[in-house]
Amino acid sequence: MKAAIYRRFGPPDVVKIEEVPKPTPKPNEVLIRIHAASVSIADHRLRAKDLPEGLGFFGPLALGVFRPRKKLLGMDGAGVVEAIGDKVTKFQPGDEVYFLPGASFGCHAEYIAMAETDFIALKPKNLSFAEATSLLFGGSTSLNYLRRKPVKPGDEVLVNGASGSCGNAAVQLAKHMGATVTGVCSAKNADLVPSLGADHVIDYAVEDFATSGKTYDAIVECVGNAPFERVNNAIKPGGALLIIIPNLKAILFSKRRSRKTGKLITAADWKATVEDLEYLAKLAEEGVLKPVIDSIYPLEDIVKAHARVDTGHKVGNVIVTMEHD
Ligand SMILES: NC(=O)c1ccc[n+]([C@@H]2O[C@H](COP(=O)([O-])OP(=O)(O)OC[C@H]3O[C@@H](n4cnc5c(N)ncnc54)[C@H](OP(=O)(O)O)[C@@H]3O)[C@@H](O)[C@H]2O)c1
Repeated sequence: MKAAIYRRFGPPDVVKIEEVPKPTPKPNEVLIRIHAASVSIADHRLRAKDLPEGLGFFGPLALGVFRPRKKLLGMDGAGVVEAIGDKVTKFQPGDEVYFLPGASFGCHAEYIAMAETDFIALKPKNLSFAEATSLLFGGSTSLNYLRRKPVKPGDEVLVNGASGSCGNAAVQLAKHMGATVTGVCSAKNADLVPSLGADHVIDYAVEDFATSGKTYDAIVECVGNAPFERVNNAIKPGGALLIIIPNLKAILFSKRRSRKTGKLITAADWKATVEDLEYLAKLAEEGVLKPVIDSIYPLEDIVKAHARVDTGHKVGNVIVTMEHD
């Protein structure tokens, strides 16, 4: 099968399309024919060895010292179950599914084998494969972070980076939870973000939300420029800073700061659940959660897809699609 492999860290063109063995499902696994997968900022981080501030020291341990540990990227995908192992009961060949191997990666290829108990769910029926996979990276992340500070109707939630993969989902999910949502984005996305449900938009080039005097019940930080010390005054007493993009300082000091300030500062790691995927599919089918796609490339053009992600200015999700006979 074709797969996008990178054998050294570097710019987008280190990723090459190679022929690799098609996986054979074990008794507890399903073999999925992948039709679409996203190229996310996580793929960029592994490929370019570009980690958030302070985490560079740990990079080689996680990513590989001289060569990448994971040579095949892609955290999420959507496709069709092609074959199942003897012990599989949950899925049938022909099922249209979407899936999130997450840190196990492996979706930038024509096929993947996953245990039936992994993060696989039926794809939202109303969406294409490309649209379905676009919900997973940002949707599962934002859902998890927003649940840490349950949003009540009428709460004020600000999403910093509202046009990105995590941000667009955070806007939609916070709105669905009943919040009044403010999205921080650039002028070029000032129409998109309200269309996702944001009540207010702040152009980050014009206004600094941290010093405007307005306060929020929760700030969802998806950019990397809103540490607690900068945005503390914009968080209401008892409010929360949900740091989707934590640096080393945030990881080390969030709990202590939370205890001292009475504000929830959360930067901890998380894992999706199958129920999350099913819930996101349900929201999509109800029209609550809309896919936001920046661009779609054939797998053969994976270098272009990585280059687009590298700009830091994609709108929602960059997708690669796989042609099958
Ligand atoms: N903790 C976790 O498990 C986890 C999971 C997923 C992601 N993350 C991290 O979360 C971060 C966000 O991921 P993502 O996938 O959402 O990134 P993304 O899609 O690449 O974000 C790109 C968006 O950020 C916007 N942006 C850039 N500078 C901005 C600024 N100063 N203010 C507001 N918006 C700005 C861009 O809008 P313009 O083009 O208009 O500037 C663009 O639409 C990444 O650093 C990622 O590593 C962490």
